[in-house]
Amino acid sequence: MRQFLRSPVGRRRHAALGALSAALLCVTAAAAPPSAARAPAPSATGKAADGPAATPPMGFNNWNSTHCGPEFNEKMVKEIADLFLAKGLKDAGYTYVNLDDCWAMPTRDPQGRLVPDPIRFPHGIKAVADYVHAKGLKFGIYTSAGTRTCSDIGFPGALGHERSDARQFADWGVDYLKYDNCNNQGVDARQRYTAMRDALRATGRPITYSICEWGENAPWEWAAELGQSWRTTGDIGDTWASMLDILKKNLPLAPYAGPGHWNDPDMLEVGNGGMTDTEYRSHFTLWAMMAAPLLIGTDLRTASPQTYDILRNTDVIALDQDPLGRQATVLDSDGGRWTLVKELANGDRAVALFNESDHEQRITTGATAAGLPAAPRYRLRDLWQRTDRHTTDEITVTVPAHATVVYRVTPEKGD
Ligand code: GLA
Repeated sequence: MRQFLRSPVGRRRHAALGALSAALLCVTAAAAPPSAARAPAPSATGKAADGPAATPPMGFNNWNSTHCGPEFNEKMVKEIADLFLAKGLKDAGYTYVNLDDCWAMPTRDPQGRLVPDPIRFPHGIKAVADYVHAKGLKFGIYTSAGTRTCSDIGFPGALGHERSDARQFADWGVDYLKYDNCNNQGVDARQRYTAMRDALRATGRPITYSICEWGENAPWEWAAELGQSWRTTGDIGDTWASMLDILKKNLPLAPYAGPGHWNDPDMLEVGNGGMTDTEYRSHFTLWAMMAAPLLIGTDLRTASPQTYDILRNTDVIALDQDPLGRQATVLDSDGGRWTLVKELANGDRAVALFNESDHEQRITTGATAAGLPAAPRYRLRDLWQRTDRHTTDEITVTVPAHATVVYRVTPEKGD
């Protein structure tokens, strides 16, 4: 309900309410455990390491900060693009500026085309895309694989209009499509998401395809053939409990992630006010360890210096963007003490020691336990403290409640 506190009561309040109830529904729907972690066949995806989304997409999406509030408009989107450059986010790797639901009018025009909301986007969508492109950034949009989108008003969805909507997006200069699942009329998910994949292909424009069916149909088992990422859960909320819940659903899906095809545990809540900065550092670190898409979900125009420090930690971002494309696996989890390990392209391992509990705890692991070869010593680079220390193997650290210590561990020769 955060957006009601932040936004004046507007004509779209009911739209936001509808979207929230849709979000709650999809959390419920995704509560079932993922179907058994069957081993995927990574080579069967045909995805090359230099293809689209060779590393997880990074950017911004307005949904977590605005929902359908009136502040979601052309001015906001342009100002976010400006901040990508002014605040070094583009340099840190953030590329996409993406619109979520509520950018359209409730009905199509007589020719069946989508019509941008003239109050939010008085110059249309292409003008915004052009502005974003002029900054050397990429532009994304949203619709649903159903008859209407998820908001209560329900803007037109693309089911049955895949070819013409994809054509319209391509003509506007869209580089990324988030394709949601509301009002899907019970049509098979794979069929619906394939239809849009084919429609995007037919445009001839490379468009990163973000599949958002909330993990309802085990998309990790089939969506690598279609798109570059697939949501694995219902919607994230700006709470510690929600972040944890999603983390625990997404972690077992590690075998399915790889270059060009990523598990998507939903967009970042960093900076939205419902968690402490310690918790946001954990959220950001854990998403990077899971090679998740990193889509900033806070209004950067009002973000604190601490929020920027989290979002711009290039050492943590480098874990997310590591070209090997491995999602971290759980080495140990006991008593709220989690040890996650991510294999990196240069042979290093990222080791994250995450304390889920409400009290400080010591967490212990080892460099060889994390999969590194025997070596005289190992360098431990603390990616938040930005300090180095060495060990002969053991890695032990006292981790405050809800915090995460993350090391980049490098084998070294003696002396
Ligand atoms: C669904 C999606 C969210 C968001 C809203 C928009 O709930 O899962 O990420 O796009 O719809 O209405």
